[in-house]
Amino acid sequence: MKIRPRINRSTASRRDLNFSNSITDSLVQPHFVVSGDNVDENIDSMPGINHQSVDILIDTIKADFQKGIRNHMLFPVLDQHKKDSQGTYSISDELPLYLAISSLREEFGDKIVIMADVCMCTYTNHGHCGIIHEGDISNDLTIPKLINIALKCAEAGVDYIAASDMMDGRVKEIRKSLDENEFKNTGIMSYSVKYASSFYGPFRDAANSSPESGDRKTHQMDVRSGYDEAKLEVELDIKEGADIIMIKPAMIYLDVVREISKSTRRPVAVYNVSGEYAMVMSSNNSIKEREKMINEIFYAFKRSGANIIVSYHTREAIYNNWLK
Ligand code: PBG
Repeated sequence: MKIRPRINRSTASRRDLNFSNSITDSLVQPHFVVSGDNVDENIDSMPGINHQSVDILIDTIKADFQKGIRNHMLFPVLDQHKKDSQGTYSISDELPLYLAISSLREEFGDKIVIMADVCMCTYTNHGHCGIIHEGDISNDLTIPKLINIALKCAEAGVDYIAASDMMDGRVKEIRKSLDENEFKNTGIMSYSVKYASSFYGPFRDAANSSPESGDRKTHQMDVRSGYDEAKLEVELDIKEGADIIMIKPAMIYLDVVREISKSTRRPVAVYNVSGEYAMVMSSNNSIKEREKMINEIFYAFKRSGANIIVSYHTREAIYNNWLK
């Protein structure tokens, strides 16, 4: 396994994301990409966050660029009728995610960092993160599916594959396939420490990705598990070739962020998840108070050792010039 530290250094934008001390440089804005034209619909559970078709997404990211947002994470959202048990639509050339990545790359070159979520839960009709075999989520039947999506994203020009599925060994297999297909410069942001949290609810509404039955506890981490389990997941992913380590959720696991950031040599990202966002947005405070809350939260992430912050608050904070 070739570990390539140069992946995180290979463009000025990637260097800013991974190594700058500025909060603005560290922030990543999530987006929900849908099919169609001229679609720009607010997501009920997440005020200020929209479902957008590719045309609107490009315009939004152009406006974001003018204001100074450089890092973007894309989530595909599918209509129910395009889903099946095998997640077949995930490799369709028509998937708006792939079109979004290639259009953004064409428009911006290396001036932005593009990350794409890779998981099966958006594509399967049962809403699970993998392929179901004999009643269980099959780790080893799922990995080839994830590889296919990762290769499509790489082909479209993504900077980082954001692997959020939590299957064992997928970083290694994705890295291997990327290398074999000459995508040596495509990075992997691994959701290494991802808890089976109850704070993902608004996102699952937004992504239309709730499991129709059961839960995600056989692959996402037990919320009671301690630092040893977190360190095990991080060590494995680093050995397998992860370029960025993600911890998720962020606010309620800051102790884990601290513990991991002290010992890992890789950039650490935190995901300030939808349930955490919804708490702040529904706190009924004035905008002035929200500005203070968001600064306080971002400083807590930085103090804990986070290098990268994925947050739905990114746009509001940067557009209003709140980060001082
Ligand atoms: C996909 C995925 C989820 C989130 C990010 N990627 C949902 C889940 O694991 O159920 C949650 C993000 C958020 O709550 O903001 N697996």
